[in-house]
Amino acid sequence: MLPLAEVREPREDVEGLIVANEPVPLDLLPALRVVANYGVGYDRIDVAACIARDVVVTNTPGVLDEATADLAFALLLAVRRQVVEGDHVVRSGGWHGSWSEGRLAEEVSGSTLGIVGLGRIGSAVARRARGFDMRVLFTNRVRSQSDLGEWRALDDLLAESDVVSLHVPLTTETEGLLHARRLGLLRDGATLVNAARGEIVDEPALVRELVSGRISAGLDVFAHEPEVPAELLDLPNVVLTPHIGSATRQTREAMTQLAVDNLQAVERGDPPLTPVTA
Ligand code: 8YV
Repeated sequence: MLPLAEVREPREDVEGLIVANEPVPLDLLPALRVVANYGVGYDRIDVAACIARDVVVTNTPGVLDEATADLAFALLLAVRRQVVEGDHVVRSGGWHGSWSEGRLAEEVSGSTLGIVGLGRIGSAVARRARGFDMRVLFTNRVRSQSDLGEWRALDDLLAESDVVSLHVPLTTETEGLLHARRLGLLRDGATLVNAARGEIVDEPALVRELVSGRISAGLDVFAHEPEVPAELLDLPNVVLTPHIGSATRQTREAMTQLAVDNLQAVERGDPPLTPVTA
């Protein structure tokens, strides 16, 4: 293991790196030929600078779609059906009879799910939604057609959905995509699920909405990980997980294998399996 943040002197011996979406000190690694990212998102890697230096960048698309969609759906169910809140009630001895005494949950079956970014992971979420008889709306950069749901402009999707789940990569276009005005378009009682990147949402604005209790959220990612806004920690309308979308044994093994295969392909002089093209 070479903690990249600790590399301060040039390292002539390093030709390949496996990284977890972190900045690469290109200036200090003159022999570098390949950066294999262990993950699909590579927003912290300066891909253009790597390509300009003839350093190949690869990522791990495809192998983590189902695990990440499972986690997004787990957050959706946990928030809408108060699974974590209910667990706390039972463990703390607060269960005294029929749950009609408490705040009632929202039905998932038959509700409307808005998917922001119908790529591989978003599509996997949409397929799960079918099993729950959900009406699926989606938005992509360009208007498109899909058997998985109906296209909507982003603002319309936010206003029409009971649950909104984010599945776009973090880019200069998507950073702050859900800003305060757009968060304000969410219906009263709507749920936001984010298993993509924290920076896609204006986090302080989201915190304000959650503290007010107007909406709820299931969050696996945050703008300044591993920091989580302190205001969220005691809120009953929020379920928090520590960036575990791809963290199943099977998926992490597949990600490791793909990263190693990419690294070795470039070392052999073969084309990488899953290159990032910028
Ligand atoms: C992380 C992810 O890469 O694939 C992604 O984009 O965010 C995750 O799979 C993984 O947690 C390793 O840091």
